[in-house]
Amino acid sequence: MSFFSSIFKKEISVLGLDIGSSAIKVVQLKKKRGRAVLETYGELALGPYAGVEIGRATSLPIDKTVEAVRDILREAKTTTVSCGAALPLASSLISFINVPPVPDKQLGEVISLEARKYIPVPLSEVMLDYSIIPREESYADNDAGGAEQQSKDALVVAIHNEFVNNYQSIMAGTGLAPSFYEIEIFSCIRAVVDQGVSTCMIIDFGARATKLYIVERGMLRSSHIINKGSQDITLSLAKAMSVSISEAENMKRVHGLKGGPEYKELSEIITVNLDYMFYEANSTLLNYQKKYRKNVAKVILTGGGALLKGFTDLAKIGFQTEVIYADPFNKLETPAFLAEEFAQAGPEFAVAIGVALRRLSELE
Ligand SMILES: Nc1ncnc2c1ncn2[C@@H]1O[C@H](COP(=O)(O)OP(=O)(O)OP(=O)(O)O)[C@@H](O)[C@H]1O
Ligand SMILES: [Mg+2]
Repeated sequence: MSFFSSIFKKEISVLGLDIGSSAIKVVQLKKKRGRAVLETYGELALGPYAGVEIGRATSLPIDKTVEAVRDILREAKTTTVSCGAALPLASSLISFINVPPVPDKQLGEVISLEARKYIPVPLSEVMLDYSIIPREESYADNDAGGAEQQSKDALVVAIHNEFVNNYQSIMAGTGLAPSFYEIEIFSCIRAVVDQGVSTCMIIDFGARATKLYIVERGMLRSSHIINKGSQDITLSLAKAMSVSISEAENMKRVHGLKGGPEYKELSEIITVNLDYMFYEANSTLLNYQKKYRKNVAKVILTGGGALLKGFTDLAKIGFQTEVIYADPFNKLETPAFLAEEFAQAGPEFAVAIGVALRRLSELE
């Protein structure tokens, strides 16, 4: 590259795409003076494409998903096809395995062999990826021998080929050119965990499921899915209060837990649902603390379900630790006058922002 072309290098834009069960989120970024600058972002509910209410989880065929992705790209006025895409946690199998001491060049082979014990389908049907979890210094110091003589802990991710093939068809249909697919966990961690926070738990309260990730020094250490999400609150509201699903969804979003005395029943039903979720999440947290003798210092809330009014107050009672809203937009340069809007939208856009940040870092 010539001197001039590097000075006048065109700013390249990239997209992060998160196709959730109830809504697609897209974020477009570009790099300017070393900072990630937000260019545009948008969200689109998938319910109407499946003939169900907004806010509900869907399982759309490929052609309908393509239609929806095209619509959101048009609405958000995106201007690039260069992107990455998040895959749902449910498409993957995540395991933590201990690898016996072997030379580094044999690691991949040994991990595939070990992984077979954890993966209930033939390895030819999955894409396998792994990363070695770095040892803590104190631990490594006590271990005799060089790095190759020590056993290692590895995080192994297996994704069913079928999911990847489906995503490839979706991307081909929309004309987007993704350079990678990654499980939404890793996008989310990149977008919401700050360096230096020792151990935290991320809760992604989506429409279909609630996902719990425990992260230590930036590395995933444990993940769980609770098969209940924010749509289950809506469904139980509709049933208990004899209202339509869209009315229930509307009440949930407008009043949440802050509807006042005339919405006592609404608050009670929401609280019962959330109590179950917080109970499960808290058990996961306490089990982890006990097993690894680690203190989980922070709970970070993401996902559209966490936007419920009064959600943090209840979460603070549910966990004996600091609880905060994810603020992934603070990793980006954004117009100051919209600060309030970004603080609100943060929890929903964590995954899409994390994907876009990775795509942007590939340009360096
Ligand atoms: N202001 C709000 N108050 C309460 N709930 C809300 C609010 N906004 C959105 N939700 C709920 O959040 C859910 C959507 O969240 P999100 O977009 O994170 O889910 P998703 O990514 O599509 O789902 P999943 O991750 O489970 O596949 C819907 O069920 C919706 O009802
Ligand atoms: Mg989601």
